[in-house]
Amino acid sequence: MEGKKVSESRMIIAQAMNPENANPSGNVHGGDIMKLIDTAGGIAAARHARAHVVTASIDRIDFHHPVYIGDVITLKASVNYVGRTSMEVGVRVEAENVITGQVRHTGSAFLTFVALDAQKKPIQLPPLILETDEDRHRNQEAAKRRQMRLAEKKTT
Ligand SMILES: CC(C)(COP(=O)(O)OP(=O)(O)OC[C@H]1O[C@@H](n2cnc3c(N)ncnc32)[C@H](O)[C@@H]1OP(=O)(O)O)[C@@H](O)C(=O)NCCC(=O)NCCS
Repeated sequence: MEGKKVSESRMIIAQAMNPENANPSGNVHGGDIMKLIDTAGGIAAARHARAHVVTASIDRIDFHHPVYIGDVITLKASVNYVGRTSMEVGVRVEAENVITGQVRHTGSAFLTFVALDAQKKPIQLPPLILETDEDRHRNQEAAKRRQMRLAEKKTT
C-alpha cells in the first residue's frame, strides 16, 4: 500500500469563542474545546485513511491556560504514528486575543483513531511517510505512547 505524508492529512480549524461557549465562571467551557479537539483530530485521521474513523481513546488532554470569550482558537492536528488499523493524532490548541494579537498555547491532546469499513471492521491503513525532523521526533514519541497504551490495555 502506498504511504502518505504527514503533510497530506494535517488539519487546521479556527473558531471564535462566543458567549455560548462560556462556563459558569465566564471562561470557555473545556468540553467545547474537547469536542473541537476530537473534530480536528478525526478529520486528520480520516484524511490519512480516506475512510470513516472512530475515536478509540484519548490518552490525555492538557489545558495549560484558560481560553477567554472573544478569543479565536486554532486547533492544529497531525498524524503522529500509524499502526495497522489505528493511528495517533496530536492536536495543539492555540488561543489568540484578536485585539492585542497575543497567541497562547493553551492545550494539547493525543488521540487514537481507528479506520473502519462499511461493516464497521477495522481496515489496514497506508503507512506514514515522515519527511521532517519534527515528524520523526513526534513519531518516536508516539511509538512509546503506543507501547504504554498496549501494555495498559493488557492489564485491564
Ligand atoms: C475502536 C474499536 C473499533 C476497536 O475495536 P477492536 O475490536 O478492539 O479492534 P482491534 O482489537 O482489531 O484493534 C484495532 C486497532 O485499534 C487499537 N485499539 C483498540 N482499542 C484501543 C484503545 N482503547 N486505545 C488505543 N488503541 C486502541 C488496537 O491497538 C489496534 O491498532 P493496530 O491495528 O494499529 O495495531 C472499537 O473498540 C470501537 O468501535 N469502539 C467504539 C468507538 C466509538 O464509537 N468512538 C466514539 C465514542 S462515542
